[in-house]
Amino acid sequence: MSERFILAIESSCDETGAAVLRGRRVLSNVIATQKVHEKYGGVVPELASRAHQSHIVPVVHQALAEAGLTPRQLDAIAFTRGPGLMGSLHVGTSFAKSMAMALGVPLIAVHHMQAHALALFIEDGQPREVPSYPFLCLTVSGGHTQLVHVRAPSDLTIAGQTIDDAAGEAFDKAAKLLGFDYPGGPLIDRWAQDGDARRFHFPHPRVPGFDFSFSGLKTSLLYLLRDDEALRRVLTDFDRSDPPQLVRDLCASYQQTVVDYLLDKTFACAAQLDLRDLALAGGVSANSALRRDFSERCTRQGLRAFIPPFAYCTDNAAMIGLVAHYKLAAGEVAALTDVPEPRGLW
Ligand code: KG4
Ligand code: ZN
Repeated sequence: MSERFILAIESSCDETGAAVLRGRRVLSNVIATQKVHEKYGGVVPELASRAHQSHIVPVVHQALAEAGLTPRQLDAIAFTRGPGLMGSLHVGTSFAKSMAMALGVPLIAVHHMQAHALALFIEDGQPREVPSYPFLCLTVSGGHTQLVHVRAPSDLTIAGQTIDDAAGEAFDKAAKLLGFDYPGGPLIDRWAQDGDARRFHFPHPRVPGFDFSFSGLKTSLLYLLRDDEALRRVLTDFDRSDPPQLVRDLCASYQQTVVDYLLDKTFACAAQLDLRDLALAGGVSANSALRRDFSERCTRQGLRAFIPPFAYCTDNAAMIGLVAHYKLAAGEVAALTDVPEPRGLW
């Protein structure tokens, strides 16, 4: 049987996405990013739901147009069921249900974090090596930090995860303390480029096993900013578009602490599970120190490193369509009575 056409919808947080896939091959992948949250320094759930409402129709239209399909040609509709913001998830879920019902095609519910871990398998015409099963995926984003043991497309287990803040939040909150605009992760990365990562010391949070904690790190930064006289003086007034060396050193030191902490746990987990292929996913995988050290440490240990193209690392609907492809093939269809799961049902 020829590969089926799937329309996938992603609306878990502040990105409205729609993608069309034929099998694993992505035909279109449209994303509307919500700018409205920037001035609030974080995602405002109510505003996110409203923005999804206004974006979803044009985004779906564009995804279909770019794929050169009419709705009647679709074989299934997929949506993100969770985890995510309740109101945001509702917009995508209700839209997907209506469309599946109107077209009389199957509805497929996808777990957002499983989609991140499998995004490497999206085909887009670019030759790319993919990991062999089983592999370990470190998913790091603004909302999540997770080590996922992927044995097969339908067999994924969480080997470790954050017990409080996500890695992206650790970056964003630090950036906020320094007075940078939201989301500040990319700015920490930028100013860390020519900073001295050994200038400041931050303790690694102590959490047993392969779980993570980031809230203490932000607190150590807060105390440092309060207690270090030289820093305090510099921070009262500096040019955010060209920070002094001290701030660059602080960015580099903080970033390196987060990266070392993430990777120490990841490599210890891979060793324990005896996994040789390692993947990185989520928006924080844009971080240059994380990418560099992840690849270097893999090479040094004779392991293989995989990082999806950036468009599939951040929130996108193509990864939702990819998981839906596996589910459709396995006959795993959702019911019209299924509701969003903001905490995510693994
Ligand atoms: O996966 P993602 O795009 O979306 C959500 O989680 O919603 O991840 C966004 C997160 C933000 O916390 C952002 O600050 C962080 O990824 N981020 C970075 C970098 N680029 C994005 N953090 C550190 N360094 C970067 N270069
Ligand atoms: Zn995500």
